[in-house]
Amino acid sequence: MALERTLSIIKPDATRRDLTGRINARFEESGLRVIAQRRLRLTREQAEVFYAVHKERSFFGDLCGFMCSGPVVVQVLEGEDAIKANREIMGATNPANADDGTIRKEFGESVEANSVHGSDSPETAAWEIAYFFCTMDIVG
Ligand code: CMP
Repeated sequence: MALERTLSIIKPDATRRDLTGRINARFEESGLRVIAQRRLRLTREQAEVFYAVHKERSFFGDLCGFMCSGPVVVQVLEGEDAIKANREIMGATNPANADDGTIRKEFGESVEANSVHGSDSPETAAWEIAYFFCTMDIVG
């Protein structure tokens, strides 16, 4: 096992319902430390660049519109195997398919409004963290 970092986003459906604290408690109770965090409102362009890997998908436009529809909380999580651990804590992309006890099962409203995003690989995590944070913002 290795100490890793991953990029997490608490999405507009969750900030709208003031779930930031409850979601952060899930991370901390599971051994993931929040080592950087910022609340911001994404521009359309920022969302399109962040999700560019999905630009050919039918849901791309709606996804970017949703991610700009309210504040998000972007954060860096650190812990043992943080990328995989966070994906387990989040649960399946579609809350309807997520296991009991996961964030998306408990809080997700739909496949789009699924409360949280997490990096899916070390390469993606490095790019996504650098997209939102500079080195001095991250205090491990
Ligand atoms: P996320 O982990 O942020 O990565 C891409 C997002 O696209 C995903 O979570 C979902 O919220 C969103 N999305 C919207 N529609 C779909 C879909 N049909 N299949 C997969 N992801 C979708």
